[in-house]
Amino acid sequence: MAERRIGILTSGGDCAGLNAALRAVVHRAIRGYGWRVFGIRDGSLGLMKRPLDVVEFDLSLVTGDMLRQGGTILGTINKGDPFAYPMPDGTMVDRSAEFVAGYRQLGLDALVVIGGDGSMRILSKLCHTGCIPMVGIPKTIDNDVAQTDYAIGYSTALVVASEALDRLAPTAASHHRVMILEVMGRDVGHIALSTGIAGGADVILIPEIHYSLEGIADRIAEVRREGRNHALVVVAEGCRTETGQSVTQLHEGGEARYGGVGQYLAHRLGEMVDAETRVTVLGHVQRGGMPSMRDRLIASAFGVYAVDLIAQGRTDRVVAWQHGAVVDVPLSEVAGVTRAVDPYGTLANTARGLGIYIGDANFCVPTLPTA
Ligand code: F6P
Repeated sequence: MAERRIGILTSGGDCAGLNAALRAVVHRAIRGYGWRVFGIRDGSLGLMKRPLDVVEFDLSLVTGDMLRQGGTILGTINKGDPFAYPMPDGTMVDRSAEFVAGYRQLGLDALVVIGGDGSMRILSKLCHTGCIPMVGIPKTIDNDVAQTDYAIGYSTALVVASEALDRLAPTAASHHRVMILEVMGRDVGHIALSTGIAGGADVILIPEIHYSLEGIADRIAEVRREGRNHALVVVAEGCRTETGQSVTQLHEGGEARYGGVGQYLAHRLGEMVDAETRVTVLGHVQRGGMPSMRDRLIASAFGVYAVDLIAQGRTDRVVAWQHGAVVDVPLSEVAGVTRAVDPYGTLANTARGLGIYIGDANFCVPTLPTA
């Protein structure tokens, strides 16, 4: 059989566990099938650059240390859509043909894309344009990739965020304060909801459920009546103000990113609750550091399975974690689709059952189906 070559890239915001997935793909492809594996640097950019910016992996490059290493050794980008690539003179240029030509120049037979829903959307369009067989591996701390219970990076972000609550609780108690922890998650509240439950929050605010300042203040007053002099609030960065404005910060190049809703809440609640408030914005620490055990396991399982899919000629698929096992789903059901928190799912109902204020639809739905 003719020698086969596959390419692999990481795209979108980084997270912990990416290197574990790269390692698994290289191991399976070389050991299992005798293929050659090319790592493409900086997402789609590596195939658009001339000379190509790629590295050929061999087994000496993929040691166990990669399991422990955060970030991505290939580099990544979360801007620069090849179909509308921003040039230094301010114009937008379609560079998709350069990507496809780069793929052909390397003589690749298929591409493994490790990315979130946005990256999958762009990369699947690129692959469709160039008739490139693609398999996706879901990653993102936001855990909003459709069809999978877990994306790589989410578990580590939860470890970091719940440890932050563990550290905030004692200082909140010492100073009788309301501590507000703002976590990432973009438009969804998976990180906030899980962190808040695991860390004993009194209030959890997520973009999927409307809240009122009065509802938060009432819960904090109730905590005080229950005999506790401090409270913990977890807010997802994508939550809006009470009147529906999103809270963002402008970065260089005019890019807006979520940030600041914690300060907004502190300011408004300061007028309503009889306690000092302080805000911690966790930011990018949620993306870095040593991957959790769960991320290492999921990433390894995803990587092996992705290569097996290519071997079976089953491309245009995305690997997913469902009910404790790896499965594969059509790329079209994942690319550009966001998986939000179910406002009446297990975790939201658990939070309600624990007396946590999670917004105005705050009645407790039974967590067991009725007989
Ligand atoms: O999608 C991952 C994520 O970390 C979001 O949670 C966050 O809103 C965003 O990326 C931050 O992007 P950047 O790294 O460009 O600041």
